[in-house]
Amino acid sequence: MNIKFLNRKIKPTDPCWCQSGLPYNECHMAIEKRLRDLARIGVETPTREMVKTREQIEGIRKSAEINIAILDYVAKNIREGISTWEIDRWVNEVTRDMGGIPAPLNYEGFPKSVCTSVNDQVCHGIPARNVILKAGDIINVDCSTIRDGYFSDSSRMFVIGETTPEKQRLVDVARECVYKGLEQVKPWNSIGDMDHAIKTHVRANGFSVVRDIGGHGCGLEFHEDPYVSYILRKGTGMVFIPGMCFTIEPMINMGTYRIYTDTTNNWTVYTDDGKPSAQWEIQVLVTATGAEVITY
Ligand code: MF3
Ligand code: CO
Repeated sequence: MNIKFLNRKIKPTDPCWCQSGLPYNECHMAIEKRLRDLARIGVETPTREMVKTREQIEGIRKSAEINIAILDYVAKNIREGISTWEIDRWVNEVTRDMGGIPAPLNYEGFPKSVCTSVNDQVCHGIPARNVILKAGDIINVDCSTIRDGYFSDSSRMFVIGETTPEKQRLVDVARECVYKGLEQVKPWNSIGDMDHAIKTHVRANGFSVVRDIGGHGCGLEFHEDPYVSYILRKGTGMVFIPGMCFTIEPMINMGTYRIYTDTTNNWTVYTDDGKPSAQWEIQVLVTATGAEVITY
């Protein structure tokens, strides 16, 4: 698919395009040969734009420092009786105190600094004064940060007080899914290998994976290629190579995978059957041997 993008004019002893400082033949030459061979047999392969340079990775890590600190702050302070509007205020303050900008604010018209999705809200819940957390609620706080032009993204679930064993299990399984998926992220594995691991765990627990929304490349933009589906078959989808940076964020529903979007705000996504949904999100960097967790 990307064969035409691979510049054949670069000489083996020229500096590699990835800015490693190494000659091409000691850096990406062999990787790109293998990518061309895969592309020829129909495998989806990454482009050079998807490979982050060392400098970009540093910038993304600095952005992630804020992203992680915000969710740590939320974890310490979230409790029964507070509103999601208050969470939005925290996120805004911590982000700006640390020299960042909340990426969601005004993103395609999104009105707040963070997404807060409670119970049967799947994602993109909009913080509001009248959404007061009560015991037994489960809530996803999805936080995205810009620092010096670099983007980071992660979300966690919080259980308010104690919830039912079923909802607690949904929250736990959704987290386990992220780390089952992560185990599959290494060079030359594919997105479908990750998805298979996630689906296997979800099925074993009797839950479902949302089909219509996925993860994304992240770093130089909020949402970059590749689109990261969580419903591909093993061995299908784009292969991973070192330097790719993307999110693992499958949405796990207790009942049906079917969802709909609130037509009054055009953002908030709900489960069709009104049963709860849970999601954790991390951002990862593919390394030479596996993956590094950038945000959590
Ligand atoms: N943070 C979400 C994600 O994980 C995207 C939210 S878009 C927003 O991709 F505008 F609602 F913030
Ligand atoms: Co994301």
